[in-house]
Amino acid sequence: MIIAVDGPVAAGKGTLARRIAGHYRLQYLDTGALYRAVGLKLLRDGKDPHDEEAAEHAARQVGDVALDDPALREEATGEAASIVAANQAVRAALLQYQRDFAQTPTGAVLDGRDIGTVVCPDADVKLFVTASAEVRARRRFDELAAKGIETTYDAVLKDLEARDARDQGRGTAPLKKAEDAHLLDTSKLDIEAAVTAACKIIDAA
Ligand code: C5P
Repeated sequence: MIIAVDGPVAAGKGTLARRIAGHYRLQYLDTGALYRAVGLKLLRDGKDPHDEEAAEHAARQVGDVALDDPALREEATGEAASIVAANQAVRAALLQYQRDFAQTPTGAVLDGRDIGTVVCPDADVKLFVTASAEVRARRRFDELAAKGIETTYDAVLKDLEARDARDQGRGTAPLKKAEDAHLLDTSKLDIEAAVTAACKIIDAA
């Protein structure tokens, strides 16, 4: 059983994918953390995320960064991740790791941007989780405020729209809904309602 969960930044897909994995007892991989790990390695090594050769090299050594390193969640790391994610060689270097993980005998849930379209095109169930940019920006702003990070709603919205444009506009594996993915709009759903809706889709499949 492979479940692919894709969608834009702050749509709630990470929380949802984790909950689905717990419910169906499947292994879970946050593929965004792999791109973040590449971005973080470059920042720590004093390299520019736009430096394509350095980024490819970092992707080959992605195991050097622990996927639970708190620095992975920082805004600067997310920004670097979205830059390296447009690099074809980086994507190629991370592809096999993700495909191997998906083959876990107990089954797996992977969340990201291209799981249903590129990494696991034959996934048993594909969910495309989204929400309006305003709702996503509000959620992200509240998350940052709870962490004591000072910013404004407008700055968060602007950053999120720039990240969306980069994810949707890149030539390699752009963010898009797979044709056979189920659309789950969480704009008006809290996490419990989103989990219930997702389980209904999975059970039916
Ligand atoms: O999901 P998260 O915000 O942690 O992902 C960080 C960045 O990694 C995203 O902005 C996106 O550009 C990239 N990414 C990707 N493909 C994936 C997962 C993440 O391009 N499967």
